[in-house]
Amino acid sequence: MLPIYLDHAATTPVRPDVLEAMLPFLNSVWGNPSSSHRFGRAARAGLEQGRRETADALGVEPNQVIFTSGGTEADNLALIGAALAARAHGRPMHVVTTAIEHKAVLAAAHAVVNLGGEETILGVDANGTVRFADLDAALQREPALVSVMWVNNEVGVVQPMAEIGARCRAAGVPLHSDAVQAFGKLPIDLDAVGCRLLSISGHKIGAPKGIGALIVRDRKIIEAIIHGGGQQYGIRPGTENVAGAVAMGRAALLARRELDEHVARISALRDDLAARLVHAVPDLMVHVQDAPHAPHILSLAVPGAEAEALLMHLDLAGIACSGGSACSTGTVEPSHVLVAMGIERSLALATIRFSLGHETTADDVERVAAAFPGIVDRVRQLHVALGRA
Ligand SMILES: Cc1ncc(COP(=O)(O)O)c(C=O)c1O
Repeated sequence: MLPIYLDHAATTPVRPDVLEAMLPFLNSVWGNPSSSHRFGRAARAGLEQGRRETADALGVEPNQVIFTSGGTEADNLALIGAALAARAHGRPMHVVTTAIEHKAVLAAAHAVVNLGGEETILGVDANGTVRFADLDAALQREPALVSVMWVNNEVGVVQPMAEIGARCRAAGVPLHSDAVQAFGKLPIDLDAVGCRLLSISGHKIGAPKGIGALIVRDRKIIEAIIHGGGQQYGIRPGTENVAGAVAMGRAALLARRELDEHVARISALRDDLAARLVHAVPDLMVHVQDAPHAPHILSLAVPGAEAEALLMHLDLAGIACSGGSACSTGTVEPSHVLVAMGIERSLALATIRFSLGHETTADDVERVAAAFPGIVDRVRQLHVALGRA
């Protein structure tokens, strides 16, 4: 039987239309887009098409799309770039973000501290939502930037971006959002939210790894963090990844065109999977039950089991998903996101994430639901046998 891939929040397969669009730029159209001769002009046409399609999908101007190597670089450019711009204007390098961000944002905020700046990390409530009172208090200090992720990659909570944006706007503080998990899963209206910087990543929406973008609606609020030949308005120099840009544009266009239908389909599958799993294992704890959540992410804790063992048994059964904890330096630490939400350590270490995508079918959901209770039983027995219960 074919394995079931339910880890689309980690990465997605390249979509056939995207591959077809990018292939000529790895093959016959190989010029440098900065060259003025015909080879360069052909490559530039591809690059500009990718920029235009990405811009159209987000309702922004093409010259507001700055291609990067992915979401991580886009986040670093936003946070460190905004801190450097603040310093250049004689203002403090102070960035505000949340405790549940992807490490790309948290580590970039920390890099600002290492450059002599300051970070404020906002806590969240039990559903992972930012508290407005904390945000308001941070805004009073007029930071260089507020960065709040649109959709959390581990538990899928959607932040109230319109309210957050309104507060930032009222305080005159630019807002950045890591929309890597939101793009293609939720409508994104940058004008309505008042978001000035937005990070996206190609490989989460059917483009290959190694391409992303920072949408920059106001160039005054950031400075470049790498330096070179002046490409991309000097904000992100370096010879552009033309094939990647073409792929990003095509994937973005498809994501935008198919948004409603895709969201309706995968959210129904997600809800069906959640209902079946809870029916089969009634003491499961589904995270973010009481707050808006993304259509593609289902995060749940299996009391009396360990995520690592669950993932191994699921993998043996041909089901690929992921854990809510990161194993580093030989010890398994609970995820910083679940810790920030106040989830008990044993439940955090028992949390796994299913994430759905374009190829997910109702048959996949049925097969996972059929296999899951047996796997949970085995892992729980193991847990008891190892004296961990
Ligand atoms: C929310 C979020 N931000 C940033 C990233 C990093 O993106 P990339 O893998 O393109 O560097 C990811 C990827 O896991 C993510 O889920």
